[in-house]
Amino acid sequence: MARGILRTDRLILREITLADLPFLHRIFGDAECMRYYPGIKSFDETGSWFQRLAFDSYANHGFGLWAVTDRQSGTLLGDCGITLQETSAGLEPEIGYHLWRDHWGKGYAAEAASACRDYALEALGRARIVSIVRPDNIRSQRVAERVHRRRETFVKAAGSDGDKVEFHLYITKKS
Ligand SMILES: CC(C)(COP(=O)(O)OP(=O)(O)OC[C@H]1O[C@@H](n2cnc3c(N)ncnc32)[C@H](O)[C@@H]1OP(=O)(O)O)[C@@H](O)C(=O)NCCC(=O)NCCS
Repeated sequence: MARGILRTDRLILREITLADLPFLHRIFGDAECMRYYPGIKSFDETGSWFQRLAFDSYANHGFGLWAVTDRQSGTLLGDCGITLQETSAGLEPEIGYHLWRDHWGKGYAAEAASACRDYALEALGRARIVSIVRPDNIRSQRVAERVHRRRETFVKAAGSDGDKVEFHLYITKKS
């Protein structure tokens, strides 16, 4: 049975299981959902992504991308969670979120990400938690603006050709 991690007003975040992968692949195999990523993923690539950022991360760090589910029905809506990512400050915890597009526009991503922010600062005792967003991903920026306090810019290699891309780095520090 998947381990529950976080509870919000409308959501439960729990560990992802192999049974969730077909649904999660709808997101990662969809051109609109992956518009700000280098491309859509094959089912195997989606599996590798969650192997690294969910299953291996749970084992190595105790956190990772979690399943975002409707608290009442248990319906899987997407993923949101904390992974270690390279930023201008080194390797640090980052909140990521991906919802199936039927569930956009309801505030679920900001609700899940805010719970992850509090979990990182309080339960995990981290001094700082960030979100990395492409400047053209306006929907994601609006989520990050609801979740974080400060924004900086940093440049990292991205895209299929490894070109340098400027990202927004949204930051919340423990007060
Ligand atoms: C990024 C992503 C999760 C954002 O989804 P979203 O639905 O815009 O974000 P939220 O779930 O927080 O919903 C926010 C919207 O719901 C609205 N909303 C409706 N009911 C609400 C409620 N009860 N509470 C809060 N907001 C509510 C808000 O007004 C807001 O709309 P606005 O931005 O037009 O003002 C989604 O676009 C996605 O999955 N994209 C593909 C993957 C991706 O790019 N991930 C980010 C990588 S950095």
